[in-house]
Amino acid sequence: FKFVFLENERYKLIIEGLFVTLEITLFAVLIGIALGTVVASIRSTYDKNIESLKKRKNLGYYILSVCNVICKIYLTVIRGTPTVVQLLIAYFIVFATSNNDVQIAVFAFGINSGAYVAEIIRAGIMAVPEGQFEAGRSLGFNYLQTMFHIIIPQMVKNVLPALCNEFIVLIKETSIAGYIGITDLTKAGDLIRGRTFSAFLPLFGVAAIYLLLVLVLTYLVGKLERRLRANER
Ligand code: ARG
Repeated sequence: FKFVFLENERYKLIIEGLFVTLEITLFAVLIGIALGTVVASIRSTYDKNIESLKKRKNLGYYILSVCNVICKIYLTVIRGTPTVVQLLIAYFIVFATSNNDVQIAVFAFGINSGAYVAEIIRAGIMAVPEGQFEAGRSLGFNYLQTMFHIIIPQMVKNVLPALCNEFIVLIKETSIAGYIGITDLTKAGDLIRGRTFSAFLPLFGVAAIYLLLVLVLTYLVGKLERRLRANER
């Protein structure tokens, strides 16, 4: 076990912790976006087509209904329970046999984030007016062309600010990774506090690093938003 008495070792621990935090966040975001996209697609396909499918009650109707119910349960359970508890369940029960803690955290945060991302993307899909789809088809585009040239570009624009916000939330949320023995940025600061008996510098230092990360991200999001809006004027 590392004893953190030397000054240069403290900085090293903080840097290592920062990279663990960034690693968990990055991979969790990717899982979250993939999962969220799938769930949002199922949910909005169901909402849009259920009335017409109800009349026929064919196989597609039953498959879509079952998928929709599974998605709803996933959203309800994940959003209805604290992330810390989910992380502990992943560590002590679901992946109890695994000894790669960071991987477990990536999965737990990814699955958690997927639920929030799903609702963000669903909102983005709903915000594109139905008429846009009809307009595309009237111009002679087929379903996929309409999707790729008309619907998805507008959807992405609707969704990006909220999605980047989710990224920021996730960075801060990973500070609970210490609960399963991961030395992330927060845990690194806390270890130094415990070993040196001085709380001020390590904890404010850690806070400053998170703040810096969030500020950089916020700045980039703002820039991106302005660029995406540039062609609206
Ligand atoms: N910290 C809160 C919880 O434990 C909120 C998490 C919000 N997470 C998110 N990815 N938007 O449930």
